[in-house]
Amino acid sequence: MKALILSGGHGTRLRPLTYSQQKQLIPVANKPVLFYAIEDVIEAGIHEIGIIVGPNAEQVKETVLSEDWDADIEFIYQGDPKGLAHAILVARDYLGDDDFVMYLGDNILREGIVEHLRHFKDGDFDASILLQEVPNPQQFGVAELSEDGKTIKRLVEKPKVPPSNLALVGIYFFKPVIHEAVRNIKPSWRNELEITDAIQWLIDNGYRVGWTKVTGWWKDTGKPGDLLDANRLILDDIQTEIQVETKARIHGRVVIEKGTEIDEKTVIKGPVVIGKNVVIRNSYIGPYTSIGDNVVIENTEVEDSIILPDSEIRDAGRIVESLIGRGAKILRGSSHPSGRKFVLGDMSRVLL
Ligand code: DAU
Repeated sequence: MKALILSGGHGTRLRPLTYSQQKQLIPVANKPVLFYAIEDVIEAGIHEIGIIVGPNAEQVKETVLSEDWDADIEFIYQGDPKGLAHAILVARDYLGDDDFVMYLGDNILREGIVEHLRHFKDGDFDASILLQEVPNPQQFGVAELSEDGKTIKRLVEKPKVPPSNLALVGIYFFKPVIHEAVRNIKPSWRNELEITDAIQWLIDNGYRVGWTKVTGWWKDTGKPGDLLDANRLILDDIQTEIQVETKARIHGRVVIEKGTEIDEKTVIKGPVVIGKNVVIRNSYIGPYTSIGDNVVIENTEVEDSIILPDSEIRDAGRIVESLIGRGAKILRGSSHPSGRKFVLGDMSRVLL
């Protein structure tokens, strides 16, 4: 069994962060989203992993290879993101005649894939998908089940009128017959080779497609709000681990890594994770905040936010529900004329 993890695509819904960074590398609880997928497949006993890379191939390679994984990892260049089924086409040689799990690199699944993989194997299915009830099925691939709920009748990609509230999770199990399916479908209205169409081809040609329901939480981290949600969910499970001496007032579960300095005037209320070599002075860090390495925070309150490495935030008042990019600066100006002064990247968002 192999794994094919997708880490290509442009991540347009996460601009401006994705102008300089591949979206699957954005950290949640100080760990790139992509790493959750890699850990999950290794946990399920899969040690051959192909990672699909696109526009920022080098960045993905470098980040993945900075860790020591218990797996052989190969990178497969897709170039322009022409669809999830296209990713399988380009990975044809790598996948050979092995069964595989395809895992979208921006998905995080709390319960992991072990039980879902078992269902795929035990049921001897040609493909098996994961479904979860969602309030907004229009934003996903959606499944329509048979009357008795046992089999899948139809799959539709982002339907205007969804046939059910069962969204397809971005994790799929396949036998090699999927290669025939992806060769037989045509690009959709958005000009992508859709995996939903390939699975529909399997159903229409009499192949067995199974499904399992996700019982815990699942997040597709495609938009800023989803990243903040995923951050809250992951932080809900952290355990306290403080690797430095500090006189700060600390409540709840907090992780603080080496080299970080936090003064006695600071209050931290977990769950919070703080990376390495961070400096925090006279500030309040509230629940559900992740602070990356080398960040400086002074005279500021931050809550329910993700702050990427190397940012500097001073005298900034109260920051909530924010996603702050690498090396960003939020400072209080002292020169005239007074007023709010911005240097914002294309497609930045500021809510005053
Ligand atoms: O997250 C679940 C949803 O994922 C499913 O419900 C949908 O059926 C499925 O089509 C997919 O929808 P998205 O709109 O979220 O797909 P997105 O274009 O964001 O791509 C998913 C991931 O795969 C993302 O990490 C980027 C990567 N990707 C995407 C394409 C189209 C590639 O590596 N190559 C590609 O060609």
